[in-house]
Order: sequence, then C-alpha cells, then structure tokens
Amino acid sequence: MNTDLKGKTAIVTGASRGIGKALASTAAGLGINLSIAARQEGPLAETADEIAKKYNVKVLGVPCDVTKLEDLENLVARTKEKFGSVDILINNAGVSSQYPFQEQPIEDFERLSLTNYLGYVRLIRLVINDMLKNKAGAIINMVSGSTLCDPLPRNFIVYSSLKVGLRAFSKGLFWELRDSGIKVTSILPGVTDTDLTGKLQDITKEQQDRLMTTEAIENALRFALTVPANVCPLEISVINQQTPWTKPVIPFKQEHPR
Ligand SMILES: NC(=O)c1ccc[n+]([C@@H]2O[C@H](COP(=O)([O-])OP(=O)(O)OC[C@H]3O[C@@H](n4cnc5c(N)ncnc54)[C@H](OP(=O)(O)O)[C@@H]3O)[C@@H](O)[C@H]2O)c1
Repeated sequence: MNTDLKGKTAIVTGASRGIGKALASTAAGLGINLSIAARQEGPLAETADEIAKKYNVKVLGVPCDVTKLEDLENLVARTKEKFGSVDILINNAGVSSQYPFQEQPIEDFERLSLTNYLGYVRLIRLVINDMLKNKAGAIINMVSGSTLCDPLPRNFIVYSSLKVGLRAFSKGLFWELRDSGIKVTSILPGVTDTDLTGKLQDITKEQQDRLMTTEAIENALRFALTVPANVCPLEISVINQQTPWTKPVIPFKQEHPR
C-alpha cells in the first residue's frame, strides 16, 4: 500500500459500473476513501457497499447527474462534508452514441456535450481552488483512444470530437497548473468490454470476445497516482491490440465497427 495515498479522498464519477467501478476499486485498493457518483441510486449503493467491504475504506455514494451543475455542486459539498477535502478527482462518467452523423438524433448533441465534456470541466472548476490552496491534487480525465485517430472513427464523430476537446483541455490545464503541485492526466482507453461497448451496433460475438478488460486501465490509474511527486504522466494510452477499428492509424474508408 502506498502510504502517501492512504486516507486521501477521491471523487469518481460514473463509478457504479464499467471502467469507473474498476477505477474506484483500484483507488480503494491504494487505501483511498471514495465519493462515488452515478445517476441510478440502486447500483451506486450496491457498488459503494461492495467496495467498502472489500477494501476496508470509507465509500460515500452520491446520486449525481453530471449534466446538472447543482448535482456536481452537491457532490463536492457532500464529499467535503464527509471527508474534509477532495484530493483526487477521477472524471469518468460518459455516454456513447454511434450514428452516421446525418441520422444522429439532434438531442444527442446536448446530452453528449454535457456528459462527456462540460461535466468534466465544471467538476474540475469546482475542486480546483481547494487543490490550489493545498498545493496538491490529482485530476484524472477519462478520454478515449478514438482521439488518436485522424480522421475520427466513422459514426463516432460527435462523441470522439468532444473527447478530442477534453484531451486538449486536459493537456492545457496541466501546463496552466504545472507549477502548482497539481497533476492532470488523461487516460485514453481503447475499446473495452463494458455496458457502453455492449451498445455498439452490429458488434459480433467474436468481436465482443476480443475486447480488452479494464485491467490495463486500472494499471494506468495506479501508475498515474504512484509516480514520484515531481512527475506527471500527462497522457496514458491503453489501446486494444485486437480490435481492428481502434488501430491508431485508421484507413480513411474504414468501416466502423466491423
Ligand atoms: N468502454 C470503452 O470501450 C471506452 C473506451 C474509451 C473511453 N471510454 C470512456 O470511459 C468512460 C466510462 O465508460 P464505460 O465503458 O465504463 O461506460 P458504462 O459501462 O456505460 O458506465 C458508465 C457509468 O457512467 C455513469 N453515467 C452515465 N451518464 C451519467 C451522468 N449523466 N451522470 C452521472 N453518471 C453517469 C453510469 O451510471 P448511471 O447510468 O447510473 O448514471 C455508469 O456508472 C466514459 O467516459 C467513456 O467515454 C470507454
């Protein structure tokens, strides 16, 4: 156990399942107390209970819709009330949407922007001043391996371009805060076996079986949180080697996903 991290507090959004739950468990394994957030109360409470029992840390489950500013404010307030500070923010909640652009429901754009971009930026803004006062803190943003593709993967351009924006914001924030003691890390996962990818259209059983698990992403978080104090891993790409449509260089006429 890393003694520096033991007893610190992390907020993890989208932590009731998938990558967020895996990352919350990883942080708990390092002795970090958690405030975990998601919209649906039932699965969130179950996850909070499971992690608290397994890792013997304190876990607060806060129902929160990251698209709503008041929910984010409540998440930070309740975390500070229970734990005193927010030392680590793992910004992870996200939704996927896969459509040829001309067929994408127009209401998708607001939902995707609020969840996958604005929610991240707002939550960082809500915790950053305390981190600056403490001259310490770690912000982890869950970006996407799709941002490595140029042009972006077909039928994923709204989702992916918001992740490109998030990646750029994250890198800019690192430079802006570089001398402040705060670390900002983007993790760029390739296609991973979660409920989110379960919703991909036309994915075959054989392709589903080739998706990577969350294990390497958990290792990436552990790495980001345990490097020496004067080092910040700026970006960590964890790409699935066996999923053809996520290769970093994607042919322009790539079919997505096949
Ligand atoms: N899976 C992949 O292949 C992959 C690849 C690259 C990047 N990513 C990114 O990794 C992150 C996690 O993805 P995942 O695959 O683990 O997804 P997932 O299995 O669908 O889980 C999403 C989590 O986010 C929560 N969530 C969704 N919308 C929310 C909202 N508005 N407010 C609060 N919580 C919300 C969900 O709980 P509720 O529904 O109860 O709110 C759930 O806990 C996302 O940012 C995604 O873009 C995933």
